Amino acid sequence: MAFPRHRPRRQRTTPALRRLVAQTSLEPRHLVLPMFVADGIAESAPILSMPGVVQHTRDSLRRAAADAVATGIGGLMLFGVPCDEDKDPTGSVGVDPDGILNVALRDLAADLGDATVLMADTCLDEFTDHGHCGVLDAAGRVDNDQTNRRYVELAVAQANSGAHVVGPSGMMDGQVAAIRDGLDAAGYSDTAILAYAAKFASGFYGPFREAVASSLQGDRRTYQQDPGNAREALHEVELDIEEGADIVMVKPAMSYLDVVRAAADISPVPVAAYQVSGEYSMITAAANNGWIDLRTVVLESLTGIRRAGADIVLTYWAADAARWLS
Ligand code: PBG
Repeated sequence: MAFPRHRPRRQRTTPALRRLVAQTSLEPRHLVLPMFVADGIAESAPILSMPGVVQHTRDSLRRAAADAVATGIGGLMLFGVPCDEDKDPTGSVGVDPDGILNVALRDLAADLGDATVLMADTCLDEFTDHGHCGVLDAAGRVDNDQTNRRYVELAVAQANSGAHVVGPSGMMDGQVAAIRDGLDAAGYSDTAILAYAAKFASGFYGPFREAVASSLQGDRRTYQQDPGNAREALHEVELDIEEGADIVMVKPAMSYLDVVRAAADISPVPVAAYQVSGEYSMITAAANNGWIDLRTVVLESLTGIRRAGADIVLTYWAADAARWLS
């Protein structure tokens, strides 16, 4: 191919022209803010490995959530951090209507109503004393089907507490189908499922484990995916769509943009990607050292995730980015 007369720089001459020809858009509505709410703390507590992110109290969460929603972001994803003494082998505090995640969902549902999309992490790792995303069998392995039964109880509790969307993130086989059936049977057929469809066993979750005060020893390689497996990731995406996922997610984002693209190419439902804690911390650390410009790099990283095909991006910068964009 030859385009002897073509001079692409002509399209870059003025800001207005660049705006006119911009292919990928990044708007506040594309962004979802993950937030942490902790039980048993008197004041919001900084997460040292994620400078700028905190564990909220119920009250500070209400204020921060209202501020974030006012920036025009698309939604909130809530994670609960119970007291250590409330953790048990089956994560009961996640199902308990008085557990921290469920009370915080009720707070936000009362404050915000349908003004935002309220989402909840539907997983057990924050609530179990062993820190795994499921319940264990006698040999100490994560039991797939018992775990799914627990996920149904979690999802119903979250829907009952006001979540518009539940987000199963434990990578059990059949979790989406089980939750869909369970929600429908409990009368929550309008509650949507954002499925963590292709979730890799990633070192980039390191700071998150501090954020939720995880009790995990060992790793999650029997349920999260091997980072090299792209074909299997697409199979996971297809299975979740067939099981009734309303949105499918790839996680982490930056090291898996090929998977985001491949999922976007086949998915009939919206695709999300999660810019995870380690991605946040790396960029923050470099920016705090003066090595890169925070705003430029954050918006560039989010634009890259959108360009790869993500309709929705979960990012700890959601509210900041929304402010920078407007
Ligand atoms: C599991 C869960 C994890 C994250 C979101 N949901 C952690 C894990 O699988 O260990 C990670 C999010 C992040 O790193 O920002 N409930």
